[in-house]
Amino acid sequence: MSRTLITSAIPYINGIKHLGNLVGSQLPADLYARYLRARGQEVLFLCATDEHGTPAELAAAKAGKPVAEYCAEMWAVQAELAKGFRLSFDHFGRSSSPQNHKLTQHFAGRLAEAGLISEVSEKQVYSNADGRFLPDRYIEGTCPNCGYDKARGDQCENCTKQLDPTDLIEPRSAISGSTDLEVRETKHLYLRQSTMRDKLNDWIDSKTDWPILTTSIAKKWLNDGDGLQDRGITRDLDWGIPVRRGEDDWPGMEGKVFYVWFDAPIEYIACAAEAVEEGTISDWERWWRVDKGADDVRYVQFMGKDNVPFHTLSFPATILGSGEPWKLVDYIKSFNYLNYDGGQFSTSQGRGVFMDQALEILPSDYWRWWLLSHAPETSDSEFTWEAFQQDVNKDLADVLGNFVSRITKFCRSKFGEAVPEGGTYGEQETALIADLEKRLAAYQSHMDAIDIRKAAAELRAIWVAGNEYLQSAAPWTAFKEDPDRAAAITRFALNLIPFYAGLSAPFIPDAAKAMADAMGAEVAWPTNAAMTALPAGHAFTVPEVLFAKIADEQRGEWAEKFSGVRS
Ligand code: MF3
Ligand code: ZN
Repeated sequence: MSRTLITSAIPYINGIKHLGNLVGSQLPADLYARYLRARGQEVLFLCATDEHGTPAELAAAKAGKPVAEYCAEMWAVQAELAKGFRLSFDHFGRSSSPQNHKLTQHFAGRLAEAGLISEVSEKQVYSNADGRFLPDRYIEGTCPNCGYDKARGDQCENCTKQLDPTDLIEPRSAISGSTDLEVRETKHLYLRQSTMRDKLNDWIDSKTDWPILTTSIAKKWLNDGDGLQDRGITRDLDWGIPVRRGEDDWPGMEGKVFYVWFDAPIEYIACAAEAVEEGTISDWERWWRVDKGADDVRYVQFMGKDNVPFHTLSFPATILGSGEPWKLVDYIKSFNYLNYDGGQFSTSQGRGVFMDQALEILPSDYWRWWLLSHAPETSDSEFTWEAFQQDVNKDLADVLGNFVSRITKFCRSKFGEAVPEGGTYGEQETALIADLEKRLAAYQSHMDAIDIRKAAAELRAIWVAGNEYLQSAAPWTAFKEDPDRAAAITRFALNLIPFYAGLSAPFIPDAAKAMADAMGAEVAWPTNAAMTALPAGHAFTVPEVLFAKIADEQRGEWAEKFSGVRS
């Protein structure tokens, strides 16, 4: 049996993600995981929260909570929302797990042994009142360019000028407001990834099947100079993974932690180890160690385009540099951005729809279908309420939902709640079977290639074909003259429902389940389009309305509600 390891970029812990984040990694990863499982593959689908770094510390401070407590709470919130969107992770881990501490320290130790780590002295701002070094964004002051008095040490929000903390007039700590600051020497570890340029270049060149978006970003960073500079992998923060060299102390590194982008991708591995502890799987090394059975695993990553450099260069540098046989990624599916109604989604301004809000107004299938069928694959795409209303009403309510409701109700009224007997499939059915066989093959090949929009378009065409068939075969007309013919048409159309359920489940799992349940069938991937799964006499029920239409008033209300600042 083929095995596929799937990871989604792990979302930052601070705050609830918006729909643009969702469609850029977790949701398409889930689509693919569900598809491969349906096709009988063994899949391990992993995600986690990305819990370290300055943003997590700041968010916790803002919430007035100790950072560990804040992270534990936000992990639970994100895990619940993932369930709400039916994201079928085999494990949803945490980058702050003991497993990740151990592995991150292990990788650092291996890199040091391989001579790939150097120690560098730097000057950084230290706050006496806070008793700590301040990262650039923890320092505030007056902008030398525009006079704005809340400019940050990395940038002035008002005039957008990039700044150094030492540029600020009257600098103060953003934590305590103290002006008792001084510049001190501090030592940090650097990963000498520039030594791996050729290796990485060859590796990326060998990936001829990767999406252009992925390879173009990787190559740009590799060749434009800056991308593969040695990078600092430690920080002067409290919250994070303590710097150790394997299990040993690292002299001179006391009180320091690893940089969040060093430990976050290692969590992909640690997450599998967490899954063992949880009892979800029995062995994680057979997914991750080439010397322990992972040689036949195909590893696929999903992420937004801003994450590509870390996954094509930095993380592979960590893996290759370790000199150990860890599994490297085989395929990277990356995404452009989803914009919101003429602008951008914005977490800081609360602009756009966030995961919790989305589920408050509509069931997850509506969102899954729309987002996936508009996945920003080849360019940025845009969410508008008009498009959302129009597409959902048409594809889900008018085409799929209406088909299911019409044929089950017709059958109930004329033949009762069981698949009718009589007649045989004729020319029209044979033609549709042939058409659906072709479409099934096309749909599968788009899904295999993770061409999400194309797959969605093919699935929609498969739904439409059934609707058109029903319209032209018109069993309600045939019934008057030739009840046997009407029975055959009805039997055929009823058989389309479990066929649709199986094919649609990766996109809209809840509706697929409801369709299969109503037909007394399992959600299963169809092996052909023969339409013989439900024999005459098989009992069914008329399902509840699968998809309600979105009314103009609702659309207007939502557009208003999500246009601005979220509390
Ligand atoms: N938290 C990062 C983001 O949302 C993604 C981290 S992915 C990993 O952009 F590779 F670091 F795990
Ligand atoms: Zn300014």
